[in-house]
Amino acid sequence: MTSKFAHSKSKVPEASGARTADETDEASAATNVRTLFNAIAPSYDRLNHLLSFGLDRRWWRSTAHTFRDILARPEARVLDICCGTGDMTSALLAERPAAFPALSSHPPGSPSLASDTSVSTTLEDIPVEPVTGLDFSPEMLQRARTKYATANALWVEGDAMHLPYPDASFDLVTAAFGFRNLSNYPDALAEILRVLRPGGQVGILECNHPNGLSGAFYLLYLNYVLPVIGGWISGERAAYRYLPASIARFPRPPRMKQMLLEAGFQAPTWRGYFLRAAGLYRATKP
Ligand SMILES: C[S@@+](CC[C@H](N)C(=O)[O-])C[C@H]1O[C@@H](n2cnc3c(N)ncnc32)[C@H](O)[C@@H]1O
Repeated sequence: MTSKFAHSKSKVPEASGARTADETDEASAATNVRTLFNAIAPSYDRLNHLLSFGLDRRWWRSTAHTFRDILARPEARVLDICCGTGDMTSALLAERPAAFPALSSHPPGSPSLASDTSVSTTLEDIPVEPVTGLDFSPEMLQRARTKYATANALWVEGDAMHLPYPDASFDLVTAAFGFRNLSNYPDALAEILRVLRPGGQVGILECNHPNGLSGAFYLLYLNYVLPVIGGWISGERAAYRYLPASIARFPRPPRMKQMLLEAGFQAPTWRGYFLRAAGLYRATKP
């Protein structure tokens, strides 16, 4: 019997949208992706840290730091799609100004708004916009809500392919290890572009398929080690066969950058992390 998450290990061409098995339509693919993440949610965090050798935390932090100029602006509106259990969202929040900075944190003798009589506002009056984390898996999102209960975040259950926001709502949209799972990449990019303000930026942190010797070892790890450990700990073997297959099908950096341009973004770049096993796409809405 074949599982709905099953995928052949044969050489797979780059695709323009996620498929968990042999679905031809996008709606079934999306339903199966949601079922998959609901199923692995209880062990997702543990396995993510284990299977990435803890590098995932560094990659989230580095991604957030890349956008520090936007994040430092209290009024900037930020959306993290496919937020899962909220770790990328939390890394973005770490680069935000503190919501209510204590005036005592000013070094003695340094100017502060409180001592400057020419301004009537105090730092306490400047509201810091929350970061919105959006995901369509209630099980993943519930874990984000619990883990980051006191964070300045809004957790929204919604579909990244049909974002529940008007045009030009955000200054920054990020996606960490989630974009690959969307059912139609060009449509997903068009949707991100729609909700960005002119001058706004997109950051897509995704797995990559390196070439050469490191790529060969990575392939062995992805196809033989990851499904065994992932399947064993989560009890969801088929889900951990889908994950490497989805990485194999995902477009490589040149094609992704081309897709960003075709979607209407400007100046797309890709920066590889750790032997190019993952990397960050960045582009701007004109
Ligand atoms: C691999 S997890 C990544 C979670 C988190 N960003 C992280 O870095 O750990 C992918 C997430 O994308 C979500 N996802 C996939 N397709 C989605 C869609 N169409 N709309 C919203 N979320 C989606 C899944 O539910 C899952 O939580």
